[in-house]
Amino acid sequence: MELAFRDITVTQGDRKVLHNISGRALGGQLMAIMGPSGAGKTLLLSVLTGRLPIDSGHILIDNTPLNRRLQRKMSYVLQQDIFFPNLTLMDTLTFAAHLRLPDEMSKADKMERVNDIVDILDLRKCLDTVMGGMWLPDWKGLSGGERKRANIACEILTDPSTILLDEPTTGLDSSTAGSLLTTLRGYAVKKKKTVVMSIHQPSTQNFFQFDKLLLLCEGKMAYYGQTDDVIEYFDNIGIPIPDSYNPADFILEKLKEQDETMKIIISAANEMRDWESYEPNSERTILSDRSCDKSDLSAVKTRKVFHNLFRQKIVESEEGRFLLCIFLKRLLTINS
Ligand SMILES: Nc1ncnc2c1ncn2[C@@H]1O[C@H](COP(=O)(O)OP(=O)(O)O)[C@@H](O)[C@H]1O
Ligand SMILES: [Mg+2]
Repeated sequence: MELAFRDITVTQGDRKVLHNISGRALGGQLMAIMGPSGAGKTLLLSVLTGRLPIDSGHILIDNTPLNRRLQRKMSYVLQQDIFFPNLTLMDTLTFAAHLRLPDEMSKADKMERVNDIVDILDLRKCLDTVMGGMWLPDWKGLSGGERKRANIACEILTDPSTILLDEPTTGLDSSTAGSLLTTLRGYAVKKKKTVVMSIHQPSTQNFFQFDKLLLLCEGKMAYYGQTDDVIEYFDNIGIPIPDSYNPADFILEKLKEQDETMKIIISAANEMRDWESYEPNSERTILSDRSCDKSDLSAVKTRKVFHNLFRQKIVESEEGRFLLCIFLKRLLTINS
């Protein structure tokens, strides 16, 4: 599936937070949205998943404006995860599969899907480990990297065509981040998925795992194109990246260094936009229509799952009930 976006402009309050952002992510590829904190990465991901209305621009999935049906083929992995600390990873995935997969799907098929995802994300060895987190003494439970994978696993259970992830590597050391990127890359290539993720400051090796790079600064585009072309591009605009430098660190430093340098980079990006000609349909993408059906998660389904699977662990525990409220609130927000 191809995700193309063009001239996306967004205002929050009276501030323009995204200025004419464009790009195109292809199936089987990994695209990075990079930029300093506050650059607009999370906002752009929210826009691309249809969760934030735009002032102007187009979002096209295989040349069709994004709509509710297409939105269901996308998964959005948020930066913050919420899990029940006392459940094992297997419990959590089973729970998520029952909540998210259609009623028509048999239990065996749901479990087969869980098993597939477990292998894709290399989670088999920690299936019996509790999720853990700050609610449990000593933070016992999954490691940081496993937890990130578990968060992704819950979202890709539905077999989306496009996966958007908000800073999935933040908080991981660079080798764990690298192995997560390799996994995601393998998944994208093997299953022809379109993977777009925001990333703050990757190591050099991790930086070059991305096929495409969209660099943002203060809501504006500072680079868009192939990651492999970055070095030559910055050379051409008179800001050469020294050999010994991590390109991501160097570019981000330059963007912060002086207003003048930032202006050169942004105006060069405007002139050299690689739009890779595509013809948006004349129809505007309408994302402000939030009145569509919200029936993905029926109350009946939710009740059934709780009664059968997790009554003791969640409903009868005070902490479980509290987390359940937060979890369902998030699910309902995602599905609405
Ligand atoms: N609801 C909002 N109202 C006003 N400004 C906002 C809102 N949400 C985000 N912003 C601003 O938009 C900018 C980009 O935010 P964000 O996308 O979260 O940055 P990033 O993810 O790159 O760190 C920030 O300056 C932030 O303060
Ligand atoms: Mg963010």
